[in-house]
Amino acid sequence: MRKVPVSALQPGLRLAKSVYGANNEVYLQTGAILTARYIQKLKELGFSSVYVYDPVLQDVEIPEATDVIHEETRREAVGQIRNLLLETASSHAKAVLPPKELSRTISDMVEQIIQNPSSRVINMADIRARNEYLYHHSVNVCVLALTVGAEMGLSRRELFDLGTGAVLHDVGKIKIPVEILEKPGRLTDEEFALVKRHTLIAEEMLSDNPVAAGIACMHHERVNGEGYPRGLKGAQVSLLAQITGIADVFDALIADRCYRKAYAPHEALEMLLAAGDYWFDYEVVRRFVNVVAAYPVGTLVELNTKETGAVVGTPKGFPTQPVVRVFLDAEKGWLADPYDLSTLEKRRFVVRVLDEEEVAFIKARFTGQSASRHRRDID
Ligand SMILES: [Fe+2]
Repeated sequence: MRKVPVSALQPGLRLAKSVYGANNEVYLQTGAILTARYIQKLKELGFSSVYVYDPVLQDVEIPEATDVIHEETRREAVGQIRNLLLETASSHAKAVLPPKELSRTISDMVEQIIQNPSSRVINMADIRARNEYLYHHSVNVCVLALTVGAEMGLSRRELFDLGTGAVLHDVGKIKIPVEILEKPGRLTDEEFALVKRHTLIAEEMLSDNPVAAGIACMHHERVNGEGYPRGLKGAQVSLLAQITGIADVFDALIADRCYRKAYAPHEALEMLLAAGDYWFDYEVVRRFVNVVAAYPVGTLVELNTKETGAVVGTPKGFPTQPVVRVFLDAEKGWLADPYDLSTLEKRRFVVRVLDEEEVAFIKARFTGQSASRHRRDID
């Protein structure tokens, strides 16, 4: 099973994980054979990737990525934040209070993350419909922030407050016109000024919960003073707001947006490492890059030793040095028995990420099979 971009899907592939909408409705069941119509529908809904049983690597077993929180908890959170945002959008009440179910879900997330310190490596997969971006983004930012917070040794209480502020960080956006939020081109100065207001709107909406209000208001502040809405500097930007801010930047980078394509996680991490400490305290950047896998499970990579394989795991603390299941060796060709290799050994490192087409093509060259990856499935 592997995550494959929707753009590379072919009819005949079999879905390895159900595809859900934000309201927990199943769009497509595990095991469904993808047809041209289904693929078109996934594109229309704006999904960028799905999990499929992989015909190129059918002999190479790739384990499922273990998530820092249970998939069910994540889906519950997405549904609950969706309901809250929709209700808030249609109500005239100024204040927003997270409902009990959402608070319970945040407590569950905190417990799951605290109780499993060894699995605190996040394999971020961008599997979400475009029109549901804000719901998934809110939950992703919450999970990322909690994971970093737990690594920094925050207490349960602090983590709960962090999770609440993080999941609600963009609540102010529901009062900004969608045409502006999703405008493909450059925003005018007036439009950008309006977008920036989502922080102040959230501060007012969350005034009953000062910690959450602080996080939501400050998540675009940067320690070098270049952020908004107030241009705060250094320690004026609270630690919880910085953790939420870096999670927000990362999750936005790895998503397809109406104005640009998604960056791969390793590219997003590189950007954060390059610019991160101008925007955030160095310790926050360091902790962040340590808990996010640069090459999530399933990523196809080529190593400096000319070995090619699929990522099967990432050791904690070494986010750019995955364990790779090697199925191709430049000298030995396509291997009948793939083997696992830790890139921590013998100065191995990832030189590039490959895409589906390339691996299918390489396999065809070495095995003499057709490059049509799914032929067997549709014959
Ligand atoms: Fe924001």
